[in-house]
Amino acid sequence: MQNLLVTGGAGFIGSNFVHYALENTNLSVTVLDKLTYAGNLESLRGLPEDRFTFVQGDICDAELVDRLVGETDVVVHYAAESHNDNSLHDPRPFLDTNIIGTYTLIEAARKHGTRFHHISTDEVYGDLELDDPERFTEQTPYNPSSPYSSTKAGSDLLVRAWVRSFGLQATLSNCSNNYGPYQHVEKFIPRQITNVIDGVRPKLYGAGENVRDWIHANDHSSAVLRIIEKGEIGQTYLIGADGEKNNKEVIELILKHMGQPADAYDQVIDRPGHDLRYAIDSTRLRTELGWEPKFSNFDQGIEDTIRWYRDNEAWWRPQKAQTEAKYKVQGQ
Ligand code: NAD
Ligand code: DAU
Repeated sequence: MQNLLVTGGAGFIGSNFVHYALENTNLSVTVLDKLTYAGNLESLRGLPEDRFTFVQGDICDAELVDRLVGETDVVVHYAAESHNDNSLHDPRPFLDTNIIGTYTLIEAARKHGTRFHHISTDEVYGDLELDDPERFTEQTPYNPSSPYSSTKAGSDLLVRAWVRSFGLQATLSNCSNNYGPYQHVEKFIPRQITNVIDGVRPKLYGAGENVRDWIHANDHSSAVLRIIEKGEIGQTYLIGADGEKNNKEVIELILKHMGQPADAYDQVIDRPGHDLRYAIDSTRLRTELGWEPKFSNFDQGIEDTIRWYRDNEAWWRPQKAQTEAKYKVQGQ
């Protein structure tokens, strides 16, 4: 049985991946997570004790990282500062975790010859016009807009350089916007769902024409497992499920499923430098590795996600007031 070291496994996508991997394979998993404001041990409840270990720690801690990487077969690196709005107000933690943290991990993986999979984002490619017929591919030039996406781009380039210069046994993936359970209430979809539960009107940045390419977190997880299993060392794979929607449409869908009028939202100050559109062409992943998404019904996925937040108020309630207080200061 192989052991995975999953960094950031107490966060949104990392925790979904840990649940998915333990349910669908016989792998064992060690999570390394600092438990920042975005990490939540409650997201890892109920996992099989004989195949799951949790270590609280920082990916910038070279000694700890060296020990854990030395004990594992595969590192799956999710840990990051992940929220664009936070990066616009306090970029420093993004440099520390996304750049230095990734550097610390790949140095350890190089020393021990450990297989490494780097999780990244479509935001490294910048944005597209609304009517651009092209989508992002593995060949699209890097052009990140925010402190968050530029530090993710930097981390990708470090991994690629370590592959070429030091023979690091790494693959990379860049995925589009995820949704599903365990997502922090600072993010777009859970923020609006929990606002409506609280009797507060959803908040749309600007005119809401910005397009995101939504994928269910479980589809991201199945793609990552496939890349670990079959991916070619040194390759980058784009992960997406053809889920383009503009933000206004998404808010209207949430309002519909929560029994509210379609226009029961507020328009608030736009995000500075707000990327207009992301869209992923995942042909390489589909044709070379035979991956396909399973959660293609976004309407149903949103309904299930609303149900999850209704049923799991104890999970998100402790973060809600603090998150909204931060947005209020920003006029959002
Ligand atoms: P998240 O903010 O929900 O979780 C991040 C996790 O990393 C948290 O548990 C946090 O405690 C941990 N962490 C942060 N700094 C750490 C450090 N220094 N050491 C150890 N642990 C640390 O993020 P997410 O949305 O789950 O994103 C996970 C990864 O997926 C990120 O690399 C992100 O760039 C990437 N990604 C996210 C999306 C998306 O839609 N959310 C899409 C594509 C790629
Ligand atoms: O594309 C992948 C990226 O998706 C990941 O790399 C990031 O980690 C993840 O946070 C996400 O980035 P976005 O900036 O696209 O996600 P966010 O949930 O912050 O916002 C989604 C869209 O909704 C974006 O256009 C901004 C808008 N928005 C957001 C919030 C929080 C609103 O209109 N209102 C809001 O209240």
